[in-house]
Amino acid sequence: MCDKLPYKVADISLAEWGRKAIEIAENEMPGLMMMRKMHGDSKPLKGARIAGCLHMTLQSAVLIETLTALGAEVQWSSCNIFSTQDHAAAAIAKSGVPDIKGISEETTTGVHNLSKMHKNKELKVPSFNVNDSVTKSKFDNLYGCRESLIDGIKRATDVMIAGKVAVVAGYGDVGKGCVQALRAFGARVIVTEIDPINALQAAMEGYEVTTMDEACKEGNIFVTTTGCKDVIVGRHFEEMKDDAIVCNIGHFDIELDVKWLNQNAAKKVNIKAQVDRYQLKNGRHIIILAEGRLVNLGCAMGHPSFVMSNSFTNQVLAQIELWTNPGKYAVGIHFLPKKLDEAVADAHLEKLGVKLTKLTADQSSYLGVSVDGPFKPDHYRY
Ligand code: NAD
Ligand code: ADE
Repeated sequence: MCDKLPYKVADISLAEWGRKAIEIAENEMPGLMMMRKMHGDSKPLKGARIAGCLHMTLQSAVLIETLTALGAEVQWSSCNIFSTQDHAAAAIAKSGVPDIKGISEETTTGVHNLSKMHKNKELKVPSFNVNDSVTKSKFDNLYGCRESLIDGIKRATDVMIAGKVAVVAGYGDVGKGCVQALRAFGARVIVTEIDPINALQAAMEGYEVTTMDEACKEGNIFVTTTGCKDVIVGRHFEEMKDDAIVCNIGHFDIELDVKWLNQNAAKKVNIKAQVDRYQLKNGRHIIILAEGRLVNLGCAMGHPSFVMSNSFTNQVLAQIELWTNPGKYAVGIHFLPKKLDEAVADAHLEKLGVKLTKLTADQSSYLGVSVDGPFKPDHYRY
């Protein structure tokens, strides 16, 4: 007999509210709705038991219900103590998702960890790198963070961004989105990087690129986006201006040395949930958001539905690919083909009123690609 709880959520009475919010999210997630339409009858995931570990948001709720509509049994656990949206969790719990097994992975840091496991011969199953589908990393990481970073900072602090100096550590996909948003609000942005190519990109976009040892003295708002550890540490906090706001939007809470603050600050005052103001021994204050965990999910609602629809349509396609092709994929890390990436993008065009140009037969033979794509080779970098 299984004594596992069918669900564990903060407050099941929030289910009705969650259900209403899920309905609105569905209208913003055309890729997932297309998956339901295309595969709802044939149920390609029938018999599959999928265990997802990802922020339990409204958008994840729409993904879960898409996987179940395609025949899968799904079990979900959240992956961050601050990111669970209790009404979304309650709605999903109420609708009754049963005890299931399986796994799925999607973000940059997760993929790094899978690669490390594979290198150490610890990876036991075929895996799909969903992050590096173009319609994931070049959209969710970039445009998602471009919107949800500011949402998190504003909900937490109500700070005026215009005129401030913002320091962004890392100029990858997430960093680029964060930098664009901060600049759009009128901040003067400084970037730190370890990779000469990304550093050059930032410089040629017009940003000052320097080290954190230099930038820590200038910034009013600090954002880490690196997926690395110890990016902002004690000696940086000690040099910061009074009431510098410091937050992280990279995967783990190891980018900021919050432990140092807890051990060395003269005082810590909790302002409200996920906002702590530390007074250092030098008298200056540091405001830390979400205890150094993901600011966009800890202090706001994460990325909007539309961009998550792109990410999650890739997830559904990867699950179908794995489940319906047993034995096709060796243990290792695989990518979805460019044609499917293009199909994900295509599913989101109509909602935005995009009109796509079609190749003529003559043009397609000139370019040497089919009129139906893929239009770019699998290795093409955007
Ligand atoms: P990426 O690899 O494209 O970018 C990371 C950048 O940080 C790289 O350019 C790298 O050179 C740079 N970097 C690494 N260590 C550094 C250091 N010590 N100092 C300065 N720069 C450094 O990765 P990405 O796709 O931009 O993702 C970044 C992080 O954000 C990952 O942890 C990822 O999992 C996470 N992520 C978060 C969200 C969210 O919603 N909060 C969404 C997508 C990705
Ligand atoms: N990552 C960033 N935003 C998210 C969201 N809204 N749902 C799930 N994962 C996310």
